[in-house]
Amino acid sequence: MELVVIFLLIWKFVESARILCIFQCPSYSHQIVFQPVLKELSSRGHKVTVVTPIPMKDASLMNLTEIDVSKSTYSVMQGSDYLNFLSKEQPVYLKIRKLFEWYHQIDEAVLSEEKFIHIYNGTSARFDLVIAQSFLSPTLHAVAAKFQVPLVGISSLGAYIGVHYAIGNPHPPSIYSESFLPYHGRMSFSERFKSTLYYIWSRYYLNFEALPKCDQIARKYLGNDIPYIQDIEKNMSLLLLTTNPILYEPRPNVPTVISMEQMHIKPVKPLPKDLKQFLDNAKEGVVYFSLGSNVKSINIPEKLRKVLIEAFAELPYKVLWKFEADDLPGKPENVLIGKWIPQQDVLAHPNVKVFVTQCGLQSVEEAVARGVPMVGMPFIADQTRNIQRLSEEGAAVGLEHTTLTKEEFKNAIFEVVNNPKYKQNVKRLGEIWVDHPLPSLNRTIWWIEYVIRHKGTKHLRSPTADVSWFEYLLIDVILVLLTIVSLALFILYVAIKFILRMIFGGRKLKQN
Ligand SMILES: *[C@@H]1O[C@H](CO)[C@@H](O)[C@H](O)[C@H]1NC(C)=O
Ligand SMILES: *[C@@H]1O[C@H](CO)[C@@H](O)[C@H](O)[C@H]1NC(C)=O
Ligand SMILES: *[C@@H]1O[C@H](CO)[C@@H](O)[C@H](O)[C@H]1NC(C)=O
Ligand SMILES: *[C@@H]1O[C@H](CO)[C@@H](O)[C@H](O)[C@H]1NC(C)=O
Repeated sequence: MELVVIFLLIWKFVESARILCIFQCPSYSHQIVFQPVLKELSSRGHKVTVVTPIPMKDASLMNLTEIDVSKSTYSVMQGSDYLNFLSKEQPVYLKIRKLFEWYHQIDEAVLSEEKFIHIYNGTSARFDLVIAQSFLSPTLHAVAAKFQVPLVGISSLGAYIGVHYAIGNPHPPSIYSESFLPYHGRMSFSERFKSTLYYIWSRYYLNFEALPKCDQIARKYLGNDIPYIQDIEKNMSLLLLTTNPILYEPRPNVPTVISMEQMHIKPVKPLPKDLKQFLDNAKEGVVYFSLGSNVKSINIPEKLRKVLIEAFAELPYKVLWKFEADDLPGKPENVLIGKWIPQQDVLAHPNVKVFVTQCGLQSVEEAVARGVPMVGMPFIADQTRNIQRLSEEGAAVGLEHTTLTKEEFKNAIFEVVNNPKYKQNVKRLGEIWVDHPLPSLNRTIWWIEYVIRHKGTKHLRSPTADVSWFEYLLIDVILVLLTIVSLALFILYVAIKFILRMIFGGRKLKQN
């Protein structure tokens, strides 16, 4: 009888785990990717607690407890000079620095939340797993170490370079650069040169500036009884990345890196009445324009806005513009603005001919899912590389917004609307993308529960996670080889000199 009870208890434990999720990034496009995972885990009977800037507030999710950190995290973003950050003149290393500065503040904001302190510093909370957003700063990963439970990292993008270092993915700067840089695959000499400089800088910056600061913040809030932050990050049992073969060139990953795809793509829902009417009536075609939830149309420079408005006015199409204010001065007749637009459903409307986008990952994926070709004007982060990839595949035309003219913009739109190749290619990409042995959500959940069942994935840990950069790049071996070769050359030189002296030195003597 006792055995049966114990068995049932263990069974229960495996069936229903206590999972703490910590998602700090105050951005809609980041969080919508995680929501299906939360829903699925909780409906499978796991007790899920999530710290999030975008709570779902869905009362039907009975096994899910949300701790709302929207106020404090959004106020960090509002207090920052975001506009300056958007400008393309800033080199990527300054942007990474800036992002880390924000992240330090966001992490502190999250760790200062009373309800969360009660969990991580209280005596009653127990967990079996921590899932933490893995985007730049690993500070919050330290909560897993505090509870001494396995850590799963999750990202709504591919990994930035520091996470590749931590998990032990091969990352030769000759082929794979920072995901925020547009150099990937076959690089020219100058690209490899810049990629190498960036690689050296990033190693220096992470090891000597960013990570020590993360460690300091983690210790300030969680106490001193935790390992060094880099060791915690390297100890990650699983890394879930939002990558796909459509936008990311394939790369060798260690076995604990798993890609999540189509997470935020939902079945098509009916449109609101006014929007449906506008799109239905636009038989001549619709240009859908949105710069997403991070860049935002109201943030763009005045000059660019003027170009857009003038170009739109001259188009023979209707334009639907996601514009985050009530009023757009100088709005042309054929333009409809909306502060919030059900993007996936709009893109599914047959009259939408082209999507003008900032090329954020989630937006691009929605366009591919609905088969809408794109005109891309990248601003930040991975957007430049996304449009590069799509242009190479013939599914989009890329533009440089800093120098954009009205004619260029109009021509790009005409090209994408009138040349059928763009639509065909975006459809082809969409078909490749959904062809999988198992739906992505099922695979994601399987891996998370695998980590819970085996209390981590120590057996899958790649040795690449533990070698130092100079071992990885064979710097020590190369130095020894160079020493041996130079020594050999030196000996040869001395020997030849000696022999020559013997021969000619002797002759000289004779002559004398
Ligand atoms: C909550 O978890 C229980 C198991 O603990 C499960 O039977 C139930 O379906 C879950 N409810 C919801 C709404 O997810
Ligand atoms: C690594 O993770 C395991 C659980 O998977 C944990 O027991 C261990 O303490 C962790 N070590 C470090 C250095 O974080
Ligand atoms: C949590 O507890 C640690 C000691 O274990 C302490 O150093 C830290 O200040 C506490 N954090 C907060 C926010 O109270
Ligand atoms: C995927 O997961 C859903 C929900 O748990 C389940 O209904 C479905 O059968 C799974 N599909 C496969 C192919 O395993």
